[in-house]
Amino acid sequence: MKNKLLLLSLIVTISIVLSGCGGSDNNATNNTPPATDNGVTTAANPETLYKQNCTSCHGVNLNQMKNADLSNVGARLSKAEIATKIAKGGGGMIAFEKRLDTNEIDALAEWLVAKK
Ligand code: HEC
Repeated sequence: MKNKLLLLSLIVTISIVLSGCGGSDNNATNNTPPATDNGVTTAANPETLYKQNCTSCHGVNLNQMKNADLSNVGARLSKAEIATKIAKGGGGMIAFEKRLDTNEIDALAEWLVAKK
């Protein structure tokens, strides 16, 4: 008998908690899509991407590697060539096509091609 009562109160508690969560979940889903849309439409920030992915080899000032000095890469390579290098890597550089999406690679290439 005691067990049944306990079970009943448990069920009641759980359903109250669940309905409470359901309510706030709805609010959350109503709020989330615009936030996600903003995240997607906002252009990828190349400087942040660079700091996160590239400084370990190229350095914070872009010129850590003398044979791949990015501080003047725009004078040597086109935007498309830079984007290909980022995506495919090679020559000691890792490929980023699986780590960064095309928007991010594009943003990085556009930012780097201006470095002359
Ligand atoms: C693991 C080390 C490493 C990381 C991380 C790295 N690179 Fe490189 N990168 C290299 C090396 C080594 C070269 C020279 C490759 C060659 O000579 O073909 C290079 C070359 C390049 C070039 C061509 C430069 C030139 O003058 O020809 C570009 C552009 C470039 N990297 C951009 C990036 C960007 C953007 C990132 C971050 C998304 C990045 N790299 C991350 C090692 C790295």
